[in-house]
Amino acid sequence: MPARIVVIYAHPYPSRSRAGKALLHAISDVEGLEVRSLYSRYPDFGIDIDAEQEALLGADLIVWQSPFYWYGVPALLHHWFEKVLALGWAYGDRHILRGKHVLFAVTTGGPPSSYSPEGMHGHPFETFLPPVSQTAKFCAMEFCEPFILHGAHRLSEEELAEKAREYRATIERAVRNIRNGNGIVVQSGVANG
Ligand SMILES: Cc1cc2nc3c(=O)[nH]c(=O)nc-3n(C[C@H](O)[C@H](O)[C@H](O)COP(=O)(O)O)c2cc1C
Repeated sequence: MPARIVVIYAHPYPSRSRAGKALLHAISDVEGLEVRSLYSRYPDFGIDIDAEQEALLGADLIVWQSPFYWYGVPALLHHWFEKVLALGWAYGDRHILRGKHVLFAVTTGGPPSSYSPEGMHGHPFETFLPPVSQTAKFCAMEFCEPFILHGAHRLSEEELAEKAREYRATIERAVRNIRNGNGIVVQSGVANG
């Protein structure tokens, strides 16, 4: 049976996306992969919690894919964290997602040089990751090395196509490593119970 990959895609304007759309297109025919476009499913933020949790239960790899908005994830993905990663299910008495791998795939407007003390964003990009990585950790999940596409608007078509190929390779490698019991982990989950 192929590994099951669930991509939680949070782009507020999927049809206007360039970078996110290219990344998604590159992985769309990966075997066992399901894309759940949150803004298409839940334009009014009325998340079907049972359906989302059910989708996660069957996943070997969970991907959170979004553009970077105001130094974090778009509002509906944050809302999804709040509703779907619920007390008594994802954390607290139970950690139903324990041991599952999460890959954060993010596109930014700022180029790599803007994420430095001298740059426009004032801090290395990694500084902004803990709200996402720690969310996974708190739910006892394994947080993979994130996939980051910087400077989305500056990339030529060729550069974007190259990044999209890299994204597909990253997902395929992650699945292989998970299957071999050798996940590309940055930080393991720490929650007990
Ligand atoms: C509301 C909003 C907030 C944004 N905040 C950031 C930010 O904090 N840092 C950054 O590098 N880019 C930021 N951007 C740029 C987006 O990350 C960029 O447009 C997106 O990744 C491009 O991907 P797309 O072609 O799929 O839309 C922001 C864009 C919008 C519209």
